[in-house]
Amino acid sequence: MRNINESTVTEAAVGLIKAEDPRLTVVMESLIRHLHAFIRDVELTEEEWMVGIRFLTATGQISDDKRQEFILLSDTLGASILVDAINHRKSAASTESTVFGPFWVSGSPHLENGARIARGPQAAAGETTVVHGVVKGENGLPLAGAVIDVWQASPAGLYDVQDPAQPEMNLRGLFHTDAEGRFWFVTVKPAAYPIPDDGPVGDMLRATGRHPMRPAHIHFMIDAAAHERLITHIFVEGDPYLESDAVLGVKDGLVTEFIVNECPEDAERWGVVSPFTEVRFDFTMEPVG
Ligand code: BEZ
Ligand code: FE
Repeated sequence: MRNINESTVTEAAVGLIKAEDPRLTVVMESLIRHLHAFIRDVELTEEEWMVGIRFLTATGQISDDKRQEFILLSDTLGASILVDAINHRKSAASTESTVFGPFWVSGSPHLENGARIARGPQAAAGETTVVHGVVKGENGLPLAGAVIDVWQASPAGLYDVQDPAQPEMNLRGLFHTDAEGRFWFVTVKPAAYPIPDDGPVGDMLRATGRHPMRPAHIHFMIDAAAHERLITHIFVEGDPYLESDAVLGVKDGLVTEFIVNECPEDAERWGVVSPFTEVRFDFTMEPVG
């Protein structure tokens, strides 16, 4: 293989692959073909190639065990939600999934239904919100004993891990559905917030005229026996960023009304002060297989 030129380089590069793993061959061949097609399509200049190399280098250099700039890049380019869509094709009845994001932590506290996940001064300043619903399986039957991992940002738009003013494990909790598949907890209404934009991904967003905002949401990861794990959010209806989520994660079926409830009996029933904000969301799990 010599005298490689513009028209022979793609086949030559593909021809070098001698992987034992057939899937690796498929993935690498396609990657090379698409990369070359992109370079030809835009007729990439040497300066642009160098900008790209510097960008990817900076993306690696800013990443550590707390910050994963490559995942943020994948999220903002729509790659994460595409991988999610391909890998979690579901029946129409099941709750849609969306991006996982970088702010989940393992070891959230196990809490009783009805517990408050909002603590600390910022949480106290937020709008008290009761979140409740039912986790269902096939035919809408309730699933008892499902484990619901919840996490969200504070009303100031920061997760506990980004904000020294919040107590550890603030706005996080693990709940279990009761015999009727029900769960309920008390939190504060989430706010829209920017994804971390002080690194190369932020530079890319600004250079391409994009904002870093995500519409207000609460994250859920739900595990139930014989069902696929569900990773999703509920979004606040009316949020101004629903149409332009920086990570393209919004689905109609996940947008939910957060309603102000002024009924004192309801407040008493949920153990909160009237008036409060209420959101009901039922999750339908996809059976395994
Ligand atoms: C989040 O919702 O926590 C998130 C998702 C993707 C990128 C950044 C943040
Ligand atoms: Fe989030």
